Amino acid sequence: VKTPKSVEAKKVTEEERIVLKRAGKINPRNIEEYIALDGYQSLAKALKMRPEEIIAEIKESGLRGRGGAGFPTGLKWEFTMKVNAPEKFVICNADEGEPGTFKDRLIMEGDPHSVIEGMLIAGYAVGANKGYVYIRGEYYESVDNLRTAISQAYEYGLLGDNILGSGFSFDLTVRLGAGAYVCGEETALIESIEGKAGRPRLKPPYPPVKGLFQKPTVVNNVETFASVPAILLNGSNWFKSIGTPSSPGTKVFSLCGNLVRRGIVEAPMGTTVADLIYKYGGGIEGGKKLKMVQTGGAAGTFIKAEEISAPMDFDSFKTHGASLGSGVILAIDDSHCAVDVALNLMEFFAHESCGKCTPCREGTRLIVNMLKEFSKGRGSHEMLDNLYNVAYTMQNSAFCGLGQSVPVPLTSLLDRFRDEFEAHIDALECPSGVCKFEKKK
Ligand code: NAI
Repeated sequence: VKTPKSVEAKKVTEEERIVLKRAGKINPRNIEEYIALDGYQSLAKALKMRPEEIIAEIKESGLRGRGGAGFPTGLKWEFTMKVNAPEKFVICNADEGEPGTFKDRLIMEGDPHSVIEGMLIAGYAVGANKGYVYIRGEYYESVDNLRTAISQAYEYGLLGDNILGSGFSFDLTVRLGAGAYVCGEETALIESIEGKAGRPRLKPPYPPVKGLFQKPTVVNNVETFASVPAILLNGSNWFKSIGTPSSPGTKVFSLCGNLVRRGIVEAPMGTTVADLIYKYGGGIEGGKKLKMVQTGGAAGTFIKAEEISAPMDFDSFKTHGASLGSGVILAIDDSHCAVDVALNLMEFFAHESCGKCTPCREGTRLIVNMLKEFSKGRGSHEMLDNLYNVAYTMQNSAFCGLGQSVPVPLTSLLDRFRDEFEAHIDALECPSGVCKFEKKK
């Protein structure tokens, strides 16, 4: 692949930072360092506004959910605000389980107060007085920094009763997840907080109307909450001036796979996959060639090396086939085999399927079994058709987002690397030399 000159630069380009503005610059365990860099200014401003005004500003900014689905944040808050209920909740989904995604972890480790401030603003705007952060139990440092930040916020009167003398009260509790991928699905997460097994509920009703303990509940991702204070402080026009018209602002991308520089980078929405790989990621390691990129996380699409001019924003899927999702760029070099990549990924989904619905429980198992046959040189053209059939069934009948999204990466691989799958049927060996055929044909 010939990469344009602009992306050949090896130097790390200046990042555009909103969410990570303070990360690495302040001691995350010292509230005063957060306050010194505009911290809690936005909350102070919000508490002088009417909830409707805050929601109008967030709606106007065009902020969309950074967990992956891109639902408009202001609209979600408005749904909850408009329900007349004696009790409402705000939940931060910090159960970051998407393979390759580690952006929320670094936001919470580096700047936990920005998440708390975003949650406080949401609570005030929708009329909720209680919040939960549901966080991956394995994120030890995030948990620790968040707990320290919460206790300091209580000490400084920024959590608890009558915050900054406004009459608004808000309590915040941390709940630890126990490693189930499905608990990142918001309704499974809600069940888990309620003390039940983490299995998804039927939607609708959506949580903004009926969520935790059947009460209206705003569930947003860590990065979404961390974006809120800057928007309110600088205004929606400022936010809209960054990114693309339908996906304003920045995105924190997780760069992983066969890259020279792996890690997180905050860049404007619409940054191309090429720039993320070559400008920020330093290109492909070991002098190898890029073969494919999985965009957006385990549930995201695979694109070929020839397609890396795709922008990363919420609409890219429609125009370029790349999915933004949680912002993962998984670069895969040409020493890898498409069948093996598919098998590895599908084994993950089969392991994480909660088993509640048949299409997902049985579908993931069937897909893994078929891919195993391909990897041993025992695949067939009929099996190839069946992979599509199972994928179609799952997409249309699985109970929750987990099962419904499994076919997305699978079919994008089948479509783009069909020749490689066919070579596993017709040729005598795996073209990449990765799969070890048991029986030569
Ligand atoms: P979804 O499209 O069902 O919902 C997105 C959000 O919008 C939810 O909070 C939902 O309650 C709300 N919503 C949607 N329609 C609504 C309506 N009519 N009224 C009120 N609220 C409404 O998507 P879902 O299943 O919540 O998330 C799927 C995404 O999650 C995928 O795009 C994937 O990229 C991402 N994901 C992220 C992971 C991570 O670790 N960050 C892990 C796994 C998946």
